[in-house]
Amino acid sequence: MAGKRMYVLCGLLIFISIQRTVSVYEEELHASYWNNKGKQALHTALNIQPNLHQAKNTILFLGDGMGVTTVTAARILKGQKAGRSGEETSLVMDTFPHLALSKTYNVDQQMPDSAGTATAYLCGVKANYGTLGVTAATPRYNCSATYGNEVKSVLYRAKQAGKSVGIVTTTRVQHASPGASYAHTANRGWYADSDLSPEAVANGCRDIAYQLVHNIEINVILGGGREYMFPRDMQDPEYPSVKGDRNDGQNLIVEWLKNKKKAKYVWNKKQFDDVNPAKTDFLMGLFEPKDCRYEIERNPLSDPSLTEMTEKAIKILSRNPKGYFLFVEGGRIDHGHHAGRAIRSLTEAIEFDRAIGRAAELTNELDTLTIVTADHSHVFSIGGHSARGNPILGVSRGIADDKKRFTLAGYANGPGYQFFNGTRPDVNETIAMGKEYRQQATVPLDSETHGIEDVAIYAKGPMSHLFHGVQEQNYIAHVMAYAACLPPYEDCKLNHPNHAASVYPSLLLLLIGLTIFSVSSS
Ligand SMILES: *[C@@H]1O[C@H](CO)[C@@H](O)[C@H](O)[C@H]1NC(C)=O
Ligand SMILES: *[C@@H]1O[C@H](CO)[C@@H](O)[C@H](O)[C@H]1NC(C)=O
Ligand SMILES: *[C@@H]1O[C@H](CO)[C@@H](O)[C@H](O)[C@H]1NC(C)=O
Ligand SMILES: [Zn+2]
Repeated sequence: MAGKRMYVLCGLLIFISIQRTVSVYEEELHASYWNNKGKQALHTALNIQPNLHQAKNTILFLGDGMGVTTVTAARILKGQKAGRSGEETSLVMDTFPHLALSKTYNVDQQMPDSAGTATAYLCGVKANYGTLGVTAATPRYNCSATYGNEVKSVLYRAKQAGKSVGIVTTTRVQHASPGASYAHTANRGWYADSDLSPEAVANGCRDIAYQLVHNIEINVILGGGREYMFPRDMQDPEYPSVKGDRNDGQNLIVEWLKNKKKAKYVWNKKQFDDVNPAKTDFLMGLFEPKDCRYEIERNPLSDPSLTEMTEKAIKILSRNPKGYFLFVEGGRIDHGHHAGRAIRSLTEAIEFDRAIGRAAELTNELDTLTIVTADHSHVFSIGGHSARGNPILGVSRGIADDKKRFTLAGYANGPGYQFFNGTRPDVNETIAMGKEYRQQATVPLDSETHGIEDVAIYAKGPMSHLFHGVQEQNYIAHVMAYAACLPPYEDCKLNHPNHAASVYPSLLLLLIGLTIFSVSSS
């Protein structure tokens, strides 16, 4: 049976592959191509020296929901958009020298959420599903159980040490991932005071927007989330039908600007572009009432991209001679997946990678620790019989047992479920590559779910070699604190790099190397 099916399948593959041009590069047919590539990679690996300096600056790039399948698919899509086969392309994050795997479960949940995981990678302590900046002794929704269980983020510790700090995200700035850097709450959904439960109000718990403004003086805050900052009777400047969400009558932007010098609040691209980083110590930019738009729907005239926000943040923060801590989130990779629309997720991931590339141009690997990771994965898979260069959002060249085609990308569950009356719809490349297309899902759910498997951590810069092996997710915060000599690792005994001197030893090594080479070859 299996043999017969195999035979039919091979026949189909041969039939379809003569119909279709397979984009294989001629150079790849030669052993020398792969041997040279392998040698180059080996040479690079042999020359990796651990950077034992203290991290003056730390940038944590968080791809929300960016599992390894998402990274691979985004890489291929990036290459295909550039007219190539795609598989051989590199993302910027692919070039980072040190990698580890991160175990993402929450204390009370096998399938984690962005709040419990953010508490782990930002504060160094694993927490419960839905909770932010508190230990797992705080059950979700229990305000009174937050008191005494607060845990402080690396961003907070960096600020205490005199560094500048910032958060940049494509979601609302009060969302779970950035939230763990400044807030302590039993429920990630308590965005504004109007969202608090009666128990939370009775026991004096504050909403996340309030905490954003009152807990830590954050130098740069960029993303969405305007409506949680304004009172109920205040109209949104961009959408007249949208009103503020606050019952307490407070205007948190006014509160935030109080007692700050060289501080600016902006809400559109024009005002954002007019901000001169050289003359700005504090910048809050909120570009949408809730989350920012997906990159494929963004109006470049009214809203900045993640890359533009990252660039502005680095330019402002890097003026501090003591350095900075910056959190940058590609927050809507997750949302595209929840909606079962892979194209949204992947285009968000590509823009996220572009921001990583821009940051690399603006920083020095000698003194800046850059980490790229995800909070959790999704039940997103890519596979099926596909030739080299097959559009990653297209259809397989094989035919399924029900005589229909199928997409390479798919979901184990979610709104893409399309199995009715014992059958599923056929699909072709035109349909599958549409902007609104939902990949088929095995199980019907309103919202596709997170995945449970490990996610990757990519790192470069000071002490980045500490990212090795399979680690619990909270390890990330510990490496960041250690590399920057922040509590509880103030006695880390790492020195700041001396930029001038660091050139000298490498020149010396080069000379020694050349001498050995000429001696051995003579
Ligand atoms: C909430 O936490 C408090 C303090 O830990 C505890 O006394 C109380 O029983 C909890 N309430 C609920 C509903 O679990
Ligand atoms: C399934 O079959 C029923 C009964 O024949 C029909 O009314 C319905 O429209 C079908 N649904 C779909 C999605 O084809
Ligand atoms: C895909 O299917 C749609 C709907 O049946 C059809 O309009 C379109 O022409 C098809 N495209 C290809 C490439 O076959
Ligand atoms: Zn999610």
